Amino acid sequence: MNTGLKDNNSQRHKFFNEDCISGCKAHLGDDSVDLIVSDPPYGIQGDKLDKHYNRNENHVIDGYVEVPASEYPAFSENWIKQAERILKPGGSIYIVSGYTNLVHILNALQKTQLQEKNHLIWKYNFGVYTRTKYISSHYHILYYTKKGKRHTFNTFARYADFEKSENGGSSNYKDREDVWIINREFKPGQTKNKNELPTQLLIKMIQFSSNEGDVVCDMFLGSFSTAKVAKGLNRHSIGFEISKSAFDHQKREFEKLETGYLLDQIRKPPKNLFLNQGKPVSSDDLIQILRDHASHLDCGMSKKKSIQKLSEKFGRGYWSILRIIDGTTNKSAEARSSRSWNLPQLL
Ligand SMILES: C[S@@+](CC[C@H](N)C(=O)[O-])C[C@H]1O[C@@H](n2cnc3c(N)ncnc32)[C@H](O)[C@@H]1O
Repeated sequence: MNTGLKDNNSQRHKFFNEDCISGCKAHLGDDSVDLIVSDPPYGIQGDKLDKHYNRNENHVIDGYVEVPASEYPAFSENWIKQAERILKPGGSIYIVSGYTNLVHILNALQKTQLQEKNHLIWKYNFGVYTRTKYISSHYHILYYTKKGKRHTFNTFARYADFEKSENGGSSNYKDREDVWIINREFKPGQTKNKNELPTQLLIKMIQFSSNEGDVVCDMFLGSFSTAKVAKGLNRHSIGFEISKSAFDHQKREFEKLETGYLLDQIRKPPKNLFLNQGKPVSSDDLIQILRDHASHLDCGMSKKKSIQKLSEKFGRGYWSILRIIDGTTNKSAEARSSRSWNLPQLL
């Protein structure tokens, strides 16, 4: 089992109460992790965020370590250089950033060979309240991949291509738009870290960009939120947190969680959906698909709806059914032109 560690340690999860830059150099080999999800300190006195958010900090764990604004450009270059080194070819990285120091993160990314895939906007609730200008209620998420291999992007891990949202649009399309509206978690009375990322946000990145058994790294663990979700989704996790108080408290919390605890709760396409994807279509199935489609149309069903039903029934994707009924596969063209198949008139 490759867990990304230089000492070939076979632990599924490994965390270091260290600076992530020197820690990466010491413990992680080149090309060793599948996915990095990181939310670096923002360089805006994040250790005093209660002032920005006007909130009660009684339940917030001490010890958030900030980076002085003057050091932010060099700091960003250094940790992102390490992130690039430890990512496997085809690996992905998501960096969450506020607006203030975004330019330094973008500059640092430009100095790497990482490839930009998306600049995502995460829209959240509880924005920074202001009276004389608009309220700031979004973060930036920079999604990049490392060249050298096809990157993991599980297009249909959450919604099938035929699933519809309440307004009739494609759920898969909606889920893959580059503006994500995900609320922060409100945890009154519970001990928490400053700036905890919501579980749903992390689930989304990890579901799309990794598979069970992959190694997920967070360079700035904070509340161990990335590691907790990685464990819940049956991934390995590695990470760094420089603050001793945050590290000690959250590591204990992490250990209480069971591997795979989130697997039953995540959004997945209906079961057995693509059971037959990639398998050749038998002649019997092909005829049945064409017959069913004809009878659907006979009953006044739209072509789209008919394809959705057939896709569910035959365990194949939307486009594969479309190609069959449009006769653009060799076999279906043959079937449509052959009298001996005894197909309905409509075909
Ligand atoms: C924005 S917070 C991360 C929050 C985290 N994503 C969560 O959901 O709780 C940044 C964290 O990085 C830590 N940190 C600051 N400098 C660091 C460094 N050089 N190496 C590792 N961790 C560092 C801070 O103490 C803080 O906990």
